Amino acid sequence: MLIFTQIADIRRFIAQQKDQNKSIGFVPTMGALHKGHISLTETSKKNCNITVCSIFVNPTQFNDKKDLERYPRTPEKDTELLEKNGCDVLFLPSVHEMYPNGTEKELFDFGNLDKILEGHFRAGHFSGVAQVVKRLFEIVTPDKAFFGSKDYQQVMIVKALVKQMHAPIEIVACPILRETDGLAMSSRNVLLSEEERKISSVIPKLMQEAKTIILQKGIEAGKTFIENETSKQPLMKLDYFEVCHADTLQIISNLNESKNRIALIACFVGRIRLIDNLSL
Ligand code: PAF
Repeated sequence: MLIFTQIADIRRFIAQQKDQNKSIGFVPTMGALHKGHISLTETSKKNCNITVCSIFVNPTQFNDKKDLERYPRTPEKDTELLEKNGCDVLFLPSVHEMYPNGTEKELFDFGNLDKILEGHFRAGHFSGVAQVVKRLFEIVTPDKAFFGSKDYQQVMIVKALVKQMHAPIEIVACPILRETDGLAMSSRNVLLSEEERKISSVIPKLMQEAKTIILQKGIEAGKTFIENETSKQPLMKLDYFEVCHADTLQIISNLNESKNRIALIACFVGRIRLIDNLSL
């Protein structure tokens, strides 16, 4: 696996590959890699000639400084894992390499999409995501980029970004990978204490139960169920549980409003914020 830390070097390499008509698949990450990330590189390998993974803990997408500080960083383990799984290129830039003029946030307009759900609870988060993904896309110029569906709203933001950039990049949303007890895989899971980890496994179960309730009794009943059940769990604090139109993320209150629906949840377990979603 080739490892680049400088933009000029990876650009040169990508240009050489494109001269040979090689297609480029890209998996942008913030490291602390798990099986979910590896499933993205595997999908990229099946679909593209060259797979590039980036690891960059992007400071502009953290609205909470403490969250940035404690974000897990395991570069050696990550490099080994990528190498073992046949990733071709790792891009590992420094903050200065990515933001030579400082980490001021660039602003984007995604209409309502970046103001609801995660955007409401993590103000400015999606501008930071769009800023770094735009920069990474300009550097790597992939044919396809692969994202996990756990961050459902992020995938929609990235799709909107690519449209705004007029960039010929296909955004591929890959299925959520789960631990054996159902918890969606996330880099943040390693930050959970043993007790918090146990409590977290309730989230996917509640989502399944809420789905059944919603399909039988409606959205309001499902929301009440989630609010009641999460409030019963020690250490758990619900940020939101909403049912949305899966294509627009418009929040719906009646099942008749959309056939293509998704339920999304965000909640704290202790200090760690977890998200998940389920189509209905
Ligand atoms: O999903 C992530 O890990 C990050 O938000 C991303 C897309 C790599 C941008 O920093």
